[in-house]
Amino acid sequence: MNKIPIIFDCDPGHDDAIALIFAFAQASLDIKAVTTVAGNAGLDKTLINAKKILGLLGRRPLLAAGAAKPMFRNLVTAPQVHGESGLDGPAIPLPDYPEEKVNAVELMRRLITESPEPVTIIATGPLTNLGILFTAFPEVKKNISTISLMGGAIGAGNWTSAAEFNIYVDPEAADIVFSSGVPLVMSGLDVTTKALIMKDEIDVIRSLGGAVPVLTADLLDFYFQFYKKNGYPGAALHDPCAVACLTHPALFTGRRYHVVVETKGKHTDGMTLADLRPYSDAKPNAIVNMDIDRKEFIKVLTEACAAYPKA
Ligand code: RIB
Ligand code: CA
Repeated sequence: MNKIPIIFDCDPGHDDAIALIFAFAQASLDIKAVTTVAGNAGLDKTLINAKKILGLLGRRPLLAAGAAKPMFRNLVTAPQVHGESGLDGPAIPLPDYPEEKVNAVELMRRLITESPEPVTIIATGPLTNLGILFTAFPEVKKNISTISLMGGAIGAGNWTSAAEFNIYVDPEAADIVFSSGVPLVMSGLDVTTKALIMKDEIDVIRSLGGAVPVLTADLLDFYFQFYKKNGYPGAALHDPCAVACLTHPALFTGRRYHVVVETKGKHTDGMTLADLRPYSDAKPNAIVNMDIDRKEFIKVLTEACAAYPKA
């Protein structure tokens, strides 16, 4: 099988962690590097959290920290969802895992430039690293096949009524990415709020036994608290959608739209506005995932957790 070369840019975050756990169990992916960005928590914390998850999985991809703040704005974080550490809940050991001395943007530039085949980027946090990369090194775009991102929404936002968190944190970076010309697959709230995992399904994962399933379930139990408090029947697996739509595309239904990012809206900063007009001549720049086979998604996530050695 030809593996897809991947750079995974994230802001762990509980659902980023689940996305990493899912991704590293996929035989179809060759994850060249994990890069971190400030978002759910500050850059120092998202780097530590990435190390903890990769240590738990026994994986050692190249790892580099990127932007500590959005390109032009102050950082907004989400402790009310992920806790002060960005990964509250179970205690996960911090491995001795030195990150690369170069910034994530330089690591991305080098890996993409040197790759003999086009690279796919999975982005599950604010798009700051990519916004900087495309500004500083626009030539890399020609060796990127796809960016599969969790972010945005055709419908309502979650951080504001108009904007989803990842896009809201750095709308200018998102605007650079959405106008880059690089093919995009957008897993926005339209699909990710359908990608819910229920308490009994979390307990099935825990019942597998072993460090990865047990800690995955413990992370999900903590993460579910926010969703339960806000009336959801399950926890929204936002970031894993950006992985699963690459590895299990049949589980997703998507539509091609031209999507732009608002950067100057009094009420709509960070909004991803799709042109839904049937007669529009705007060229689509994204496949927007709109629906998911939730039960099958949970099944393949559970299988991924079971695939790790029962250390
Ligand atoms: O809106 C959900 C997104 O914001 C997810 O990526 C979550 O991890 C947070 O970063
Ligand atoms: Ca995230």
